[in-house]
Amino acid sequence: MVKLDLSGAQRFFTQAGPDYAAAARAHEVLASGTGLGSDFTGWLGLPQKVKGTELDRIVAAAETIRSRSRALVVIGIGGSYLGARGAIELLRPVPAEDDPAVYFVGNGLSADALCDTLAKLGDRDFDVNVISKSGTTLEPAVSFRIFRELLEKKYGAEADSHIFATTDARRGVLKSLADAKGWESFVVPDDVGGRFSVFSAVGLLPMAVAGIDVRKVIDAAICEFKALDERSESNPAWQYAAARQNLYNKGYGVEILGCYEPSFRFMAEWWKQLYGESEGKDLKGIFPASVEFTADLHSMGQYIQQGQRFLQETIVRFDRSRFAYPVPGSEDNADGLDYIAGRDLAEICTVAADAVREAHIDGGVPNIVVHCSARDEEGLAELVCFFELACALSGYMSGVNPFDQPGVEAYKKNMFRMLGKPGAV
Ligand code: PA5
Repeated sequence: MVKLDLSGAQRFFTQAGPDYAAAARAHEVLASGTGLGSDFTGWLGLPQKVKGTELDRIVAAAETIRSRSRALVVIGIGGSYLGARGAIELLRPVPAEDDPAVYFVGNGLSADALCDTLAKLGDRDFDVNVISKSGTTLEPAVSFRIFRELLEKKYGAEADSHIFATTDARRGVLKSLADAKGWESFVVPDDVGGRFSVFSAVGLLPMAVAGIDVRKVIDAAICEFKALDERSESNPAWQYAAARQNLYNKGYGVEILGCYEPSFRFMAEWWKQLYGESEGKDLKGIFPASVEFTADLHSMGQYIQQGQRFLQETIVRFDRSRFAYPVPGSEDNADGLDYIAGRDLAEICTVAADAVREAHIDGGVPNIVVHCSARDEEGLAELVCFFELACALSGYMSGVNPFDQPGVEAYKKNMFRMLGKPGAV
């Protein structure tokens, strides 16, 4: 389980401090299925549900892809790609020699980005995993049309066997197409929304293709959700939800999530979607932003230190680093760095993180640290389970339905009208 350090936020809390009674109520409402959007709380039991036949099928499909293709093109947007991308970049930033490349498309409408991916793909053998719960989202649907055509040109009658569809069990165009064409299909359960679907085939199939041990991830996630069911103030999900809500009520309306591992970048994108889409409604919500340290200390660092005081900061720290790399010694100390010669880069990074934390707190930025054990399968499960549960609790604490996203429809409505979609108004 992750461990939280709230000491850097303590002096910024209201006098009453984080409202753990409200966190307890939110947890009860969530667990009893009596809260807003309770039809979408299936993610809590998702790892158990997936373990078994579904996980076996996912692993088998991944093995098929790994054995015959040099690339997997994952088509999806929002919750239908961010978790997988976050996990893959965090755990496999450098693919092993026999790992197929995993490309993510259909998460925008840029012709340039599409052509760049096509150039990277070249004439390699590839498979496609199209992911859309609704099966009607324009961005992935357009990309899928393009990649289907490419598959048909490349593989002819065999093209259909290179398509894996992850979608609703019953509804949507993608489901109908998959049934008609006989594509191997995986289900996004009815009671799981896109941004909470990492532990379904949505996240697991691309992860498994990239070489992540998804069985380990699922076993760890089962243990994590069990541990996080603890109903007490020592539950880190309670601590995080209650702390950030308390700070929000004190005017800290923007939360920056930072990490000292560049490979965390897309996990932060996943987190932004999770919290932004779940909490930003009814004219409420903490605005989630992200930073990459130490790089952004030389850009955003100025603002964080001395800009408008509405920032709260959450830092994810991995307690064990994967590698060690000591700073080399020198003969003449011409660069003046001999004072750190022989010290490990990971240790220097830890010192930097402590120094930044102290400076930011002194500068008026409440600081929360999320300690995760390591950058591995277990660590991934720790983070996903923790952030998902805390998000649901935090959403309930602020009185919103954390599981819907009605605002996303506004741009779609305009776009369909402007594109002349039949029936659009
Ligand atoms: O979290 C969500 O529900 C959304 O971000 C969806 O994942 C996103 O809009 C994509 O939807 P779909 O999978 O239906 O194409």
